[in-house]
Amino acid sequence: MPDNGSVPHSHAVYPGSFDPPTDGHLDVIARSAAIFPLVTVAVVVNPQKRSPLFTLDEREEMLRRCTSAYPNVRVDHFRGLLADYVRRISADVIVKGLRVVSDFESEMAFAHMNRSLSNVDTMFLMSDSSYSFVSSSLIKEVFLQGGDIAKYVPEVVLEFMNTKRHAQGRN
Ligand code: PNS
Repeated sequence: MPDNGSVPHSHAVYPGSFDPPTDGHLDVIARSAAIFPLVTVAVVVNPQKRSPLFTLDEREEMLRRCTSAYPNVRVDHFRGLLADYVRRISADVIVKGLRVVSDFESEMAFAHMNRSLSNVDTMFLMSDSSYSFVSSSLIKEVFLQGGDIAKYVPEVVLEFMNTKRHAQGRN
């Protein structure tokens, strides 16, 4: 326990679009679960960038199956502001992964805004260097153009992606 009277962080929120979850996301989740007693992986309902490939239910289901080995990880979703959601579920820290320096610029503004809105700190984990170039959008692009993405996503995600491709008639 810190000697300044405050209690250690106990409940972390790891937010994202997870469209789809990648090995890089799973690495951050595993490392967060080793640091915090409880980690909520929070799927944003409507990603701002574009309409998602996977529905909210699919993104949550993939994450639940990928994280079933971690008893202190739960999967949830949120709409609206992350700062409001964090307060609503009484979490006390936001966790984000940083892959490259360019991530830092936008994340710094998000971290300041979230702290200003809800007084919650953001803690950053450096992505493992082997995942520094892995993003959901790149995975989707490579996959939809017929490339092999097995190295970059959990097996369950690959199954979901194959199913999605068949459903969309792209064999
Ligand atoms: O996986 P992503 O798409 O990089 O995740 C971005 C996410 C969901 C973390 C971010 O867009 C977010 O926090 N959205 C919720 C809306 C919000 O709070 N916006 C203000 C951020 S300071």
